[in-house]
Amino acid sequence: MTYTPHSNRYNNGMQYARCGNSGVLIPRISLGLWHNFGDVDDFSESERIICYAFDHGITHFDIANNYGPPPGTAEINFGKILNTQLSGYRDELFISSKAGYTMWQGPYGDHGSRKYMMASIDQSLKRTGLAYFDLFYSHRYDPNTPLEETMQALVDMVKQGKALYVGISNYPAEVAVRAYAYLAANQTPCLLHQCKYSMLVRNVEEGNINACEKSGVGLIAFSSLAQGLLTNKYLHEIPQNSRAAKATGFLQKEQITAEVLQKIEQLNKLAALRNQSLAQMALAWVLREKTISSVIVGASAVSQLQNNIATLNNLDFSPTELAQIERILG
Ligand SMILES: NC(=O)c1ccc[n+]([C@@H]2O[C@H](COP(=O)([O-])OP(=O)(O)OC[C@H]3O[C@@H](n4cnc5c(N)ncnc54)[C@H](OP(=O)(O)O)[C@@H]3O)[C@@H](O)[C@H]2O)c1
Repeated sequence: MTYTPHSNRYNNGMQYARCGNSGVLIPRISLGLWHNFGDVDDFSESERIICYAFDHGITHFDIANNYGPPPGTAEINFGKILNTQLSGYRDELFISSKAGYTMWQGPYGDHGSRKYMMASIDQSLKRTGLAYFDLFYSHRYDPNTPLEETMQALVDMVKQGKALYVGISNYPAEVAVRAYAYLAANQTPCLLHQCKYSMLVRNVEEGNINACEKSGVGLIAFSSLAQGLLTNKYLHEIPQNSRAAKATGFLQKEQITAEVLQKIEQLNKLAALRNQSLAQMALAWVLREKTISSVIVGASAVSQLQNNIATLNNLDFSPTELAQIERILG
């Protein structure tokens, strides 16, 4: 595939928002590579998805050391696309990776020690072929490692020129606040906290949204489509090749209960009244929170990404619609 990016890519429907108090703008819809970019996936479709994203103003791509499967292959495949189709566009891209989940055997291949974090970023740079990441995250809080040790590793990655900014993901709010303070005191303010947030999973409303707001840290949401549940795809069946049909175990058939389906059905009707797909209403609902800089979507096909980007045509909710959503969610 030979690709030349669209010349109008920044006038093609994308909007940008600032990450907290920083100078960095990211697209309100970002693309995540947790699924669909591993060696088990169709590389040419992965390539088309990345190119479609870039053509429509998506500058932010989110990966992690363990994405695949097998782990590491999403970084390798993304690196191939970067170094072919997107070569020459590095300064237009904002690329994040992370370390925190199991990546290699033995005591140093997981969690939050300095030993693991420093080796991880080196491995991720090698796999992607990048000289630096724009953002590197601690992927999860490790209660058995002093917070200062994990945070100092992030600070040192920036000092070493391996990352421009740092972030955290999936931290409880009370620990996140201490992380923000440590990083700020060491001249490496936290850029983003990456948290799960959707109509079906709302824990961030209990602390992390406020903590980000107070500390001037941006919040970036993931799994806002609940891995596909908050779309119309599971309304009548479990389609072949859908995430729930695959044996990855991340979205299990058992999660698609009659109760969940009833909510989805009602949300789908409300979305239709707004002239949106359910996916679009679910993403717009997350983006209504002003602290949220961006929502990272996953996509297994270009058509899904196209649908998700068009969310930005209608981000407004009337008080009546918001109340209806609350009633449906119970
Ligand atoms: N920090 C963390 O711990 C963490 C954890 C999870 C995710 N993330 C990040 O967030 C990203 C997104 O996570 P996610 O994949 O769980 O997000 P998601 O956006 O909730 O789900 C994406 C999946 O939903 C389906 N889909 C997407 N758009 C659709 C549409 N318009 N219509 C119908 N189906 C649609 C596709 O599944 P099918 O395969 O069924 O087509 C797609 O793979 C990840 O790639 C990663 O970068 C971070």
